[in-house]
Amino acid sequence: MQSSNKTPMTRKKFILISALLSAFIIGIPFACNETLSVSDCTVTTDKMNGSIKLAFVSDVHNTPYGRNMNGLVNKIKKFDPDAVIFGGDLFDNEWGEPNSILLTERLVKLYPCFYSLGNHEFHKYDAGADLIKSNMRAIGVHVLDGRTFDLYANGSTVRIHGIDGVSSADQLKNCRSLTAPDMFNILINHYPEEFPMLSEMGFDLVLSGHAHGGQIRIPPFIKGLFSPGQGFFPKYTSGEYFSHGSELIVSRGLQRSPRDLLIPRVFNRPELVFITIKGK
Ligand SMILES: [Fe+2]
Repeated sequence: MQSSNKTPMTRKKFILISALLSAFIIGIPFACNETLSVSDCTVTTDKMNGSIKLAFVSDVHNTPYGRNMNGLVNKIKKFDPDAVIFGGDLFDNEWGEPNSILLTERLVKLYPCFYSLGNHEFHKYDAGADLIKSNMRAIGVHVLDGRTFDLYANGSTVRIHGIDGVSSADQLKNCRSLTAPDMFNILINHYPEEFPMLSEMGFDLVLSGHAHGGQIRIPPFIKGLFSPGQGFFPKYTSGEYFSHGSELIVSRGLQRSPRDLLIPRVFNRPELVFITIKGK
């Protein structure tokens, strides 16, 4: 009797395990898809009449995107922004990384470009970050390290600030002093976990990256497994967040899984973010 009961159970188990294994094998390429995705965000404000379009490019880490970086450049050209914002970790380690330099050189010829550094530009030493800043300025990029720039386009103006993180207290103090309540104030700050503090400082929109979407996402349950600065199950990994009348947009970033990092991006495609700021 015992042996006759075991046979159907074993067959059922075999079928179940085979089905799960097949689903897993077939699902891996889908889950680990690292092709470029594009997200559109519209922000409305009563502080301007027209509209201004921004391409938000974060966490490139020198990742190649096709021949001559056409994979990114052509998408941005199609959107035709009024400016490009680099949200930090453009370079993985130091000045000289060719894909990031080529991307910047091409885009700066087409659009005003603004850039605040991330943690990776300071990865090796502060002097490396200084070299990146000076070379980017020589190319024509507006490096915002405690600096502010008024961008005028289509009859509207936005005020763009940028810092190397809130630990750069003097930079933050300077930008904060230059926020104008009657203007739309944008802050580039690489670190999304600093948004709760920044949301009360007069910035209408904060742009961050850094979290890389939390690397592993299992929608709709896990919106990111880990982010440096936020730990496990981070709060700020992708999309829009709101607090005290201020908005945070977090890009999942453009770095694909590096070869030296065994953890792949899961349900977490690299992301280019197109932002339209519209007057009400
Ligand atoms: Fe990064």
